[in-house]
Amino acid sequence: MKQDNLLEVKNLTTRFKLDDGILTAVDGISFEVGRNQTVGIVGESGCGKSVTSFSILQLVAPPGKVAEGEIIFDGQDLLKLSKKEMRKIRGKKISMIFQEPMTSLNPVYTIGNQIDEMTKLHLGLDKQAAKEHTIELLRAVKIPSPEQRYHEYPHQLSGGMRQRVMIAMALACNPEMLICDEPTTALDVTVQAQILRLIDELKQKNNMSVMIITHDLAVISEVADKVIVMYAGRIVEESDEKDIFTKPLHPYTEALLKSIPSNAQRGEKLFMIDGMVPNLLKENKGCMFAPRCQYAQPHCFETEPELKTVGDGRKVRCHLRGEGEE
Ligand SMILES: Nc1ncnc2c1ncn2[C@@H]1O[C@H](COP(=O)(O)OP(=O)(O)OP(=O)(O)O)[C@@H](O)[C@H]1O
Ligand SMILES: [Mg+2]
Repeated sequence: MKQDNLLEVKNLTTRFKLDDGILTAVDGISFEVGRNQTVGIVGESGCGKSVTSFSILQLVAPPGKVAEGEIIFDGQDLLKLSKKEMRKIRGKKISMIFQEPMTSLNPVYTIGNQIDEMTKLHLGLDKQAAKEHTIELLRAVKIPSPEQRYHEYPHQLSGGMRQRVMIAMALACNPEMLICDEPTTALDVTVQAQILRLIDELKQKNNMSVMIITHDLAVISEVADKVIVMYAGRIVEESDEKDIFTKPLHPYTEALLKSIPSNAQRGEKLFMIDGMVPNLLKENKGCMFAPRCQYAQPHCFETEPELKTVGDGRKVRCHLRGEGEE
C-alpha cells in the first residue's frame, strides 16, 4: 500500500558560500515522511542532518542557501512560500525542537509566559485560555507540579525538564509534524530514553509525523519506522525495515552499528570509525566513503555510486552492495 506522504523532500541541495569556497552541506537528497510516521536521520557530526531540517523550515541563514530542490509539505512547495506564509507554517504546522534547548528558551521569561505567547499568536487564545492550555501541555509532557512550574524560569529547571518544556512548546499548536534535532544528546541515558518514549507516545496521541535526528542508532531502532543514513551531505542508505539494524547494506551503516557505544557510554558524541569525513569544500571524486571503507575497490575511488533500490523499501548507495541482495 502506498504511504500517504505528509512531506516530500525532492533533490534538496543546500550550500554555504564561504571565503575559501562553496561548501555543499546537503547534496541532492530526496525522502518522504508519511503521515503518522517516524523517520530517523542518522550520521556522524557534520554530515548535514541539521542543515536538512533547517532547509525544510527555511531557517538556513546566509551565507547558506537552499540552491535546489522542492519541499512539498501537505501538497505545497514550502520553497515557494513568502516569508510571511512560512512563518505561519513554522511553529503551527511544523514544529522543531532544536539541538541546544537553552538557546531556544529565553532566560528572562517564565516558561509559562513563553508557551502562552505561542498559542496567543498562532491560535488566538486569550490570556486565561492560553494559561490553561500551557498547564495542560506541561502536564502532557509529564512535568510534575505544572501549575508551579508555569511560573519558573528556564534556569530553575534540570536539563531533562527543560527538554520537556521544549517539547511542550513544540506541541503547543498541535503541529502535523515535529522535527527533533538531537533531542537527547545533552541528557543522561535514562532521561534520554524517557524523552524519546514521551515523543513516541505524544506522536500516537496527536497523530503527528516525526522526523528525529540523532547520532544514536540504538535510540532510533526503538522508535523509527524508517531510517535514513546520511554521509557527507548525501543519503547512503534508507530502510523502512528494522533489518537495517541487523543486516545493514552500506559499509558506513555497518561501521556505525559496530560503533554503537555500550549503554554506559551512550549519549557521548563518539564514533570510532577510522579516518575523517571528507572536506566538503573540495570536489570529491568517487564514493565519498571510499577512503574509510574496508571493502573499497579501485573503481570506488573513481565513480560515485547511485542510490539504488534493493528489494522492498530499501535503498543503498554502494558499488559493492545491493545487487541480488534482498
Ligand atoms: N552556518 C554555517 N556556515 C558554514 N558552514 C556550515 C554552517 N552550518 C553548517 N555548516 C556546514 O555544513 C555541514 C553540515 O552541517 P550540519 O550542522 O548539518 O551537521 P550535522 O549532521 O547536524 O552535525 P552534528 O551531528 O554535529 O549536529 C558541515 O560541514 C558544517 O560545517
Ligand atoms: Mg546537527
